[in-house]
Amino acid sequence: MSAPLNLMAPDVRANPYPLYAELRRRPVCQVEPGGMWAVSRHDDVVAVLKDTRRFSSAGLGRSFLPPWLERNPVAASLVMKDPPEHTRLRGLVSRAFSGAALQRLEAQVRAIAEELAEAVVRQQEVDFVAAFSLRLPVRVLSLLFGLEPELWPRMRVWADDLLSIPASHPTPERREEIRQSLEEMERCFQALLASRRAAPGEDLVSELLGAEGLTDDERMSFLFSLLPAGFETTAHLLSNTVLVLTRHPREAERVIAEPRLIPRLIEEVLRYEPPAQSSLRLVTEDTEVGGVRVPRGALVAVLLGSAMRDEQRYPEADRFDLDREGQGHLPFGHGIHFCLGAQLARMEARLGLEALLARIRGVSLTRQEVSWSQSYIARGPLRLPVRFEPRAD
Ligand code: HEM
Repeated sequence: MSAPLNLMAPDVRANPYPLYAELRRRPVCQVEPGGMWAVSRHDDVVAVLKDTRRFSSAGLGRSFLPPWLERNPVAASLVMKDPPEHTRLRGLVSRAFSGAALQRLEAQVRAIAEELAEAVVRQQEVDFVAAFSLRLPVRVLSLLFGLEPELWPRMRVWADDLLSIPASHPTPERREEIRQSLEEMERCFQALLASRRAAPGEDLVSELLGAEGLTDDERMSFLFSLLPAGFETTAHLLSNTVLVLTRHPREAERVIAEPRLIPRLIEEVLRYEPPAQSSLRLVTEDTEVGGVRVPRGALVAVLLGSAMRDEQRYPEADRFDLDREGQGHLPFGHGIHFCLGAQLARMEARLGLEALLARIRGVSLTRQEVSWSQSYIARGPLRLPVRFEPRAD
């Protein structure tokens, strides 16, 4: 008997692309963990993401509210809702991510990126994940929320705790830690809502308070959801880009010489080594995907990371190619749940890389083996020991 197809197998976490290629050769099929139905071809992925009636986002919500947890505002957030509720909520919160809101942030994000880049390049040898990738998004989120610097380390713990809820079977001690984390977050966000209500500013929280029709519970759920949505993913994008540069020195040389290629670099990394590898959907009625019957109640793993390596859609899909034409791919999802933070994430990555590449002649790994995040949803290195060659001038 052949080994089960397992998205969590250690060799698959280290490199999921051979398994994805095998999955694309079959029609839609069941995989571990949990017997989920893997949808791996580009066109099937797009079809599932478009069909919100038969493929509900509620499955995600359930996984964030296991029986041992009495309350978790994330479980009621935008990304886990279907129309019509999703439509109403998205209409109300999306102004906070408008072009004007991003423009207001740009100079501050650039200043943070410059400060962090200066420090990592001065050290020359660093763990890029700890010294840069995790720091930039935490500081940007705290800007967005208007949180004090003392809370930066707590934000990281909150994001980790939230993300560990669907992924693990925690011990009683760990459950208590997670509960306390959620309570601490809620107290903090309640204080934030009260202070902006008293004195509104030009920030996300004030924007949410100004959105008539949102309840305070909905505002709380949305704020909670931005930690798992906006933090780890963006950190992985920065780390994945630097890792790709160490493995493609010729491309690294080109981008360092021609910084206008940075947006192109980011788009190709988002396709080739995407931070969000999959999303989940719950099947609401017996249906068919890619010619295969999938029963009502099944959980579907929508493999974005596989869709973007599909040869039917991308010629030489396994080749990292800065000159690749025709984007239109799926790193931020597709359809009604298309990532609200996509432009913010792209801006953070662009400003982070501009600050970094302006200071270096090259970058290399100091240890070849990379340990990867243990999740089939988010992919990025846990540590990235690199050496920067600073510019002489
Ligand atoms: C939704 C990826 C950064 C906020 C999504 C989805 C993906 C995604 C794939 C769709 C999920 C689904 O269909 O189930 C990413 C990646 C990022 C990133 C790869 C970084 C490189 C951010 C940031 C924020 C954010 C920085 C905000 C601070 C959201 C929100 C949604 C979402 C609110 C839900 C939208 C909805 O349901 O209508 N993201 N994201 N994301 N993302 Fe992002």
